[in-house]
Amino acid sequence: MASPLRFDGRVVLVTGAGGGLGRAYALAFAERGASVVVNDLGGDMKGLSKGSLAAADKVVEEIRSKGGKAVANYDSVEAGEKVVRTALEAFGRIDVVVNNAGILRDNSFARISDEDWDIIHRVHLRGSFQVTRAAWEHMKKQKFGRIVMTASASGIYGNFGQANYSAAKLGLLGLSNTLAIEGRKSNIHCNTIAPAAGSRMTQSIMTEDLVEALKPDYVAPLVLWLCHESCEENGSLFEVGGGWIGKLRWERALGAIVRQKNQPMTPEAVKANWQKICDFENASKPLRIQESIGSIIGVLSKIDSEGGISTNSTSHAASAAPSAFAEIIGHELPSFSSAYTELQTIMYALGVGASVKEPKDMKFIYEGSTDFSCLPTFGVIIAQKPITGGDLPQVPGLSVDFRKALHGEQYLELYKPLPRSGNLKCEAVIADIVDKGSGLVIFLDVYSYFEEELICYNQFSVFAVGSGGIGGKRVSDKAKVAVPVPNRPPDAVRSDATSLNQSALYRLSGDWNPLHIDPNLAGFAGFDRPILHGLCTFGFSARHVLQQFADNDVSRFKAIKARFSKPVYPGQTLQTEMWKEGNRIHFQTKVQETGDIVISNAYVDLLPTSEISAKTPSEGGELQSTLVFEEIGRRLKDIGHEVAKKVNAVFEWHITKGGHTAAKWTIDLKSGSGKVYEGPAKGSADATFTLSDEDFMEVVLGKLDPQKAFFSGRLKARGNIMLSQKLQMILKDYAKL
Ligand code: NAI
Repeated sequence: MASPLRFDGRVVLVTGAGGGLGRAYALAFAERGASVVVNDLGGDMKGLSKGSLAAADKVVEEIRSKGGKAVANYDSVEAGEKVVRTALEAFGRIDVVVNNAGILRDNSFARISDEDWDIIHRVHLRGSFQVTRAAWEHMKKQKFGRIVMTASASGIYGNFGQANYSAAKLGLLGLSNTLAIEGRKSNIHCNTIAPAAGSRMTQSIMTEDLVEALKPDYVAPLVLWLCHESCEENGSLFEVGGGWIGKLRWERALGAIVRQKNQPMTPEAVKANWQKICDFENASKPLRIQESIGSIIGVLSKIDSEGGISTNSTSHAASAAPSAFAEIIGHELPSFSSAYTELQTIMYALGVGASVKEPKDMKFIYEGSTDFSCLPTFGVIIAQKPITGGDLPQVPGLSVDFRKALHGEQYLELYKPLPRSGNLKCEAVIADIVDKGSGLVIFLDVYSYFEEELICYNQFSVFAVGSGGIGGKRVSDKAKVAVPVPNRPPDAVRSDATSLNQSALYRLSGDWNPLHIDPNLAGFAGFDRPILHGLCTFGFSARHVLQQFADNDVSRFKAIKARFSKPVYPGQTLQTEMWKEGNRIHFQTKVQETGDIVISNAYVDLLPTSEISAKTPSEGGELQSTLVFEEIGRRLKDIGHEVAKKVNAVFEWHITKGGHTAAKWTIDLKSGSGKVYEGPAKGSADATFTLSDEDFMEVVLGKLDPQKAFFSGRLKARGNIMLSQKLQMILKDYAKL
């Protein structure tokens, strides 16, 4: 049997211990060796009648008669100093405070007088504050303290006729939550209980039998445990009664982002998203303010980077959601190489409409041009093999009818301009799958490396029509979100006629699907004639944006997102409508002849000219953090297994230079012996941290505490922010240079 929980040598103060619950606590503590201060001013339940010393005296007598140690105190808890002084004078110290004293002044809200409001607050809230404050410094000095606050179900849930009492009682929970934080480092723990017990307070609302059955003795053991030196519980709330105890916590809906970058937030957008705001499916359970604020800060950066209305999640909650595809999400496809020469880059440029007609296009189609460049959207060609080469349908367990799969959306981000020729290594992973009911959306992330450096990232969204409705989650925090175009006439429009040979030419870049060249097959698929590749239209549109807003300077290209909404036939004219909002160019592409929108909700993000050097750190000065990440990677080879066991999380890092993201790194300490690689996390990151190269070094060198950096805004964190507590462990121990 476990050894009994004893309180020998401990001094316990129980307020309002002359009767009811307080009496039961006082007796129980004394029985287990504590010296007890029995505080009670006597008086009736409303705090009206004059105090009778008898209440406290009786309990003291009862304790002493059993051989226990106790003294009485008759002050109101509002005089906290005096109450605590009794403990110090009688026993020389104070170890435990149980704030229990209370009265009632019930009345319906409109009838609550100022006096009824004030006295309830004075006794419950102010009284607990006064007593606890008087004990606090003593507890801090001795590096030990246990405090219990007494709340009530009335405060937690509300109760007719108890507005004053409910408010004060839940105020105590707020007080307790903060004391738990402030006291932790001095081994002072503070918890809150909401009891249910038969006492004079409840005898008017409970039957006699119930008053008898719900004994205060069925609450006292929880209070004793929470106050024992071996109990680590801190900052928690419990409902307790009749021999049952349950802990409570907060739950927060996944919620919805109802605002777009640079646009006002409107009540109409709130109304439109109301169901999502209130939907507790996949809810998160934030434990600490950092988690709460962290995800809100995460929303800010999400709006900033994606700019769109997103009814998606805040990051942490969605990634924690159970998924019907848990086995497949995170599945890595076989890695592959993508080799190309100038021939392929020129062929691609011609395939997406670059032409000798336009002198500024020469750089894309003539290798002798001084500034010969690869079009940024060639990045999708590098990465498309899992889609065009049939690797995706081979993924074990992915039972989807790929004959009905459509390329729904595309995201591409470049970390530096693509080389004019090269052999890139690509890694593909199923980032997520969501169930839209009418189909599944599979998000395939592909990372492409040139000479070990991540230079581009693609996300293919494949919509598998008819495979949905199997109960998977409906939103993904991994999805790159398409953004509606602004509601005003476009700032610029560019158009290009495609040729009848456009898909015949474009397919030479690697998408050999006969749908784009074979009339019979196109007929089978329900089209009048072969259709243009969606990614060909995508290339035309990106070219238009680059011409219009970046003077064809490929180093200004950062990212593109597009949704394919309708087919295009070769020979039709593509018209790209563009809206400039800062460095984001929103666009949609229409077929001029029909007015159909064929690419919708799209954007290109450009880099301001000043940022270009930051984007290519190896040319514009090395980041110091690079060395640290590389070193962590080396050290993990020896001790990674042990660290991964302790940490069990994936951290993504965004390192900034001059205010702009200059590098992304992932420290994966979840699987095996862990790994470190450049680029965003393949699969889900448990936490994402953004900070400057300089601050990162300060953290590593132990000069900057990550928690402090977070609160001062120097470190931004998303996801499970509490993991930041483990950062010191990784960085301090494994990154010493
Ligand atoms: P009770 O009325 O039997 O005990 C409260 C004690 O506090 C009384 O002995 C009273 O003289 C004393 N007291 C009142 N004002 C005081 C003051 N200013 N200074 C010092 N002592 C004072 O009531 P019970 O049921 O034992 O309640 C104990 C605590 O539990 C209260 O805070 C109450 O609000 C809370 N609670 C009780 C519930 C129950 O089901 N009994 C439900 C929810 C909360």
